[in-house]
Amino acid sequence: MLTKNFDYWKSRGVPGPRPCLPWGNEFGPPFTKVGEFDSWLYHKHGGKKYCGYFELRKPVLFVGDLEMIKAITIKDFDHFTDQRDQLGNDLFKEMLIILKGAKWKETRSVMSPTFSASKLKAMYQLTLDNAQNLLKYINAQQVDKGEVEIKEAFGKFTMDNIAASAFGINCNSFTDPNSKFAAMSASLSDFDPLSMLQFIVQGVSAKLAALIPTPVDKAGEFFRSAVLKTISHREKNPSSTRDFLQLLMDTKDKDGKRILSDSSIVAQSILFLFAGYETTATLLTFAAYCLALDQEIQQRVQQEVDDAVERHGGLTYEAVMDMPYLDRVISETLRLYSPAPRTERVCTKKYTLPGSDLVIDVGTLLAIPVLPIHRDPEYYPDPLRFDPDRFLPEEKEKRHPCSYLPFGSGPRNCIAMRFALFEAKVALVTMLRELTLKPTPQTPPHPMPLDKKAFLVSPEGGRVPLCAVRRE
Ligand code: HEM
Repeated sequence: MLTKNFDYWKSRGVPGPRPCLPWGNEFGPPFTKVGEFDSWLYHKHGGKKYCGYFELRKPVLFVGDLEMIKAITIKDFDHFTDQRDQLGNDLFKEMLIILKGAKWKETRSVMSPTFSASKLKAMYQLTLDNAQNLLKYINAQQVDKGEVEIKEAFGKFTMDNIAASAFGINCNSFTDPNSKFAAMSASLSDFDPLSMLQFIVQGVSAKLAALIPTPVDKAGEFFRSAVLKTISHREKNPSSTRDFLQLLMDTKDKDGKRILSDSSIVAQSILFLFAGYETTATLLTFAAYCLALDQEIQQRVQQEVDDAVERHGGLTYEAVMDMPYLDRVISETLRLYSPAPRTERVCTKKYTLPGSDLVIDVGTLLAIPVLPIHRDPEYYPDPLRFDPDRFLPEEKEKRHPCSYLPFGSGPRNCIAMRFALFEAKVALVTMLRELTLKPTPQTPPHPMPLDKKAFLVSPEGGRVPLCAVRRE
């Protein structure tokens, strides 16, 4: 019974690794996680075009061909509107990332204006305040320890920024090592043994998986109560704050009634934390690492920061948004060290894969390998070299639009892309105006070895020590 589906791909003429008990191919060549596994499928099993593998008994179609990705995520999106089923916790059921079909579409269109350029501008001061705290913390760490653990520092920054913008909470993680908010957030993303068991059981029965208690349940309750308290407080005492929480509370229909329910706002706030905290901290960590290892590129960024600040009469929102070289540095960081190593879609309407005669059944999970595409020498010659000028407009134009997917692709891409880039720029600019980053003897040489066991792209060992010296 466990091997029931194992000829699914073979009988359809789809190449791929031979499935075996007990895992199908879920964990790849012995117990590697997504990043390595995807690279193995892409290079060794035909995944650069497409191939099939198994998660337990579930067949998964792995598609690396750029034209096919464009068709799936953009042109024929109505056949692939959904993401995979996520682990079941009642609190999370209304999260945008979990919603399907028409419900997803409706909620996405209500939430989208929350991330417009004008809304970001209103959040500038809040983000700048958190970036100033980051700068203070880095300075203090450098004085105390002679180096800065930069991943930890950026984790505190993105935590404080999401706590403030999505929960209206002052988390103080720079000064409070026992912050309850930070501890609860950690248990949301920790993949402890019970969560691992739940993930495995999910492949067999979602109902059974939901019965397994995990630390996520306790954390969910904590965040629910925090959001509900703030909603109730703000309803009694209207606030002029324009953070995400307020923007979600302000979604009104034509009769002036709030569109998103309390439970939906709770779910979206937790999702913002879940989706936005570690991803943005990872981007910042790798950007700082790449700049520390290439002083010439760093000096060019610093020069651009100084010029923009002078042109705009201070470190204004407009100045931060007027730094094209910094923008290229961030794009190149996201190419080489894309925090999300893959994206996924579920087939919602029977579909013939263009350029093939493969018919994809409803319910089939599709995996799109982001990192292997970003590191494919066919699209990016000498792919491990850090070169921001790959993102000059004339260079970008030469490439296929789906050769760059750090935020996914099409109508279901990352809803907060603009916010993530903005937040990362504010942090980097605030830092590089005053400090120069340098490697320590312990900083790994380029390219950074990646943690084989992590779900998100992450530095091996989890630590990135750097020196932060005052600019002359
Ligand atoms: C550098 C930082 C970030 C990266 C690399 C990133 C990447 C991604 C990716 C790859 C997806 C899936 C897209 C797809 O399947 O096509 C996604 C979805 C999403 N992200 Fe982000 N993200 C980042 C930051 C954030 C932040 C800061 C937030 C919230 C404040 C956020 C909220 C979301 C949400 C809500 C979705 C689900 C969208 C939907 O299903 O409609 N992300 N993100």
